[in-house]
Amino acid sequence: MVANRLPVDRVTNPDGTQGFRRSPGGLVTALEPIMAASDGAWVGWHGGIDEELESFDKDDIHLVPVPLNEDDLELYYEGFSNSTLWPLYHDVIVPPAYHRTWWDRYKKINQRFAEAVLRIAAPNATVWVHDYQLQLVPRLLRLARPDLKIGFFLHIPFPAASLFSQLPWRRQILEGLAGADLVGFQRETDATNFLRCLRRFTDYQTKGHEATPRPEHDLQNVCRADAHPISIDYEQIKRLSRDPQIIARAAQIRHELGNPKTIMLGVDRLDYTKGIRHRLKTYGELLNDKQLKAGEVCLIQVASPSRENVETYMELRDQVELMVGQITGQFDTLSHTTLRYLHHSYPLKEMIALYLAADVLLVTALRDGMNLVAKEYVAAHQDGRGVLVLSEFTGAADQLTQSVLVNPHDIDGMKAKIMQAVNMPEAEQAKRMKRMNHHLEEYDVARWSHRFLTELAQINTNSIPVVPA
Ligand code: G6P
Repeated sequence: MVANRLPVDRVTNPDGTQGFRRSPGGLVTALEPIMAASDGAWVGWHGGIDEELESFDKDDIHLVPVPLNEDDLELYYEGFSNSTLWPLYHDVIVPPAYHRTWWDRYKKINQRFAEAVLRIAAPNATVWVHDYQLQLVPRLLRLARPDLKIGFFLHIPFPAASLFSQLPWRRQILEGLAGADLVGFQRETDATNFLRCLRRFTDYQTKGHEATPRPEHDLQNVCRADAHPISIDYEQIKRLSRDPQIIARAAQIRHELGNPKTIMLGVDRLDYTKGIRHRLKTYGELLNDKQLKAGEVCLIQVASPSRENVETYMELRDQVELMVGQITGQFDTLSHTTLRYLHHSYPLKEMIALYLAADVLLVTALRDGMNLVAKEYVAAHQDGRGVLVLSEFTGAADQLTQSVLVNPHDIDGMKAKIMQAVNMPEAEQAKRMKRMNHHLEEYDVARWSHRFLTELAQINTNSIPVVPA
């Protein structure tokens, strides 16, 4: 496994020493048994600045840290990854910036990650590379080690060719990805966009889901592109949602908010792709019109801190916090709050309690690769209560078709849909929740990784003799 981040969070032990704790994501849970069984390792950044660490084991995973210094963070992480690629791939919601110094550092850091893999990968190993920060790694690996089986998964959307064409280094990024045997995307449209871009901006030829280089190309592997929508650890969320302590915590949350008739919830990284401002505007208008009564409703908005050194994120925080102040200032009373804004991140158990406490979850992203919060909310509602309001512009909308789908740009439309959600009869809530849960139970994250790795294993790499270790 190769990803920008290792699946660990830093913690301070009771004796004051620093350590690591496995981060709670479903991705790690799904991959842990596979990696343990195949003597796997995870290559990634450990979160420290300019800190060289030896490899270490955490639970059943062997971790190989890749160091990043302050300049790397500024140019590769905040710069090219999060100020060029992230906005470009999310439909240019904010304008992407194109800087050659950022691109140069992106190439250098991708090389560093590839070298870390090359030091440890056994002959014929399978290497699974993740996400937009590392799109050059597949080609770098293939050039050095044709024996490797290489998969890549993009967790975020892949843009239409008309947008992708802006990127001055579009050919290099496409060829970087095409070094993989299999490139997985969240949605069919993302895979189609990628194949179209390959056809337009490189000399690859495409047919169906496959891209083939011309004979004079320096790599000769066929690259397959397919949709592999990611999911959650369904059983884990289901189990936690039945935990009496978590159920009690949900009741306590409602109680502490004064037992309002309706609790709505938003849970996002504080990111401009999430449509938080559109959500707050809609909510403010509903209160103003008195369609929602200030004393009867509360919106809990969890906005977890993210990429705080990036200018566009700082601006967003100011805008969101201004709107929060306007709404609470206008509609709160001494005894009741209409909006509880929390600029924190919370452990999974607390998240499940929030999901259970909420009558309606608002997911209003302007563009989102998948949105796992939507899936977690559904899985947490084994009780059949609750309504998911879900943006059409998320990958999850393809699968959670029983949600109340919204276009976040259409404020009047969102107002109507939110009221539909608030007033939905319990029987209909239960019917929709059941259908969506049915889907998630079948398509969980273990199935996702299994399907990806099986498809990768079945690809007949035109393989060259094994390089001696
Ligand atoms: C998205 C990306 C991930 C990224 C995560 C958190 O989900 O797809 O690659 O790790 O956001 O962002 P951060 O910049 O903190 O790693």
